[in-house]
Amino acid sequence: MTQIIDGKKISQEIKDELREQVAEQKKLGKEAALAVIQVGTDPASSVYVNNKKKACAYIGIGSLSYELPEETTEEELLALVEKLNGDASVNGILVQLPLPAQIDADKVIRAIAPEKDVDGFHPENVGKLVIGEPGFVSCTPAGIIQLLKRSGIKMEGKHCVIIGRSNIVGKPMALLMLRENATVTIAHSKTQNLPELCKTADILIVAIGKPQFITADYIKEGAVVIDVGIHRDENNKLCGDVRYDEVAPHTSAITPVPGGVGPMTIAMLMHNCVESMLQ
Ligand code: GUN
Repeated sequence: MTQIIDGKKISQEIKDELREQVAEQKKLGKEAALAVIQVGTDPASSVYVNNKKKACAYIGIGSLSYELPEETTEEELLALVEKLNGDASVNGILVQLPLPAQIDADKVIRAIAPEKDVDGFHPENVGKLVIGEPGFVSCTPAGIIQLLKRSGIKMEGKHCVIIGRSNIVGKPMALLMLRENATVTIAHSKTQNLPELCKTADILIVAIGKPQFITADYIKEGAVVIDVGIHRDENNKLCGDVRYDEVAPHTSAITPVPGGVGPMTIAMLMHNCVESMLQ
């Protein structure tokens, strides 16, 4: 029997735990607020930003919204980040990506005070992840670890193949899996014999960004499959990087799209916001 990993349910559990923690902190007189900055009006970004603000309201932390025009300069954005770094009432700062072409995203990420970098993108937090020190961890890979742990899936000693090497998902995912004592392989667009390699995976994490790319030919019977992709198919229906209907019967556990990895990203952002409150 295939276990369908319910990201919606698990993310709700996490948000309810965080809500209780925030209520406890409030009794001690502590408050928290997340500043969310969006530059421009990309519709997908607007949806994500709104969901983040809703999640803040649900767990009981404040959110400050900064909606800047598309033509905002790098200097203007950096000045806002600096101002928020110095604002004691703000303990988390999130700059929604992607940013318009005139702004260097890396420069903006580096400008965020590491102790307010709830996205876990600042090089100091990335470095801490590499050497195993506590710090903020990128939300999507952290959410995948929670999905696996809370679904009773063991990682120790398993061969985990991650397809994708981005700074936001693939690379931190590999480091987190290593921390869980998995044996880790990172595959990417230049990897040779990808289906054969994937067929050796006990846990396959797919973050390629190509709709329904992974077929049953990539799957070892009984593997666990985690699908990070989110796209719209030709009928405007949401789908992932994995051809779900074809792949699922060959797995022991799989995440659906939607309702798998997606909701976990925001739950872990809220987790990071609560961490920043406890510092
Ligand atoms: N754009 C897509 N995913 C993310 C994310 O996790 N954080 C931010 N800041 N922007 C994103």
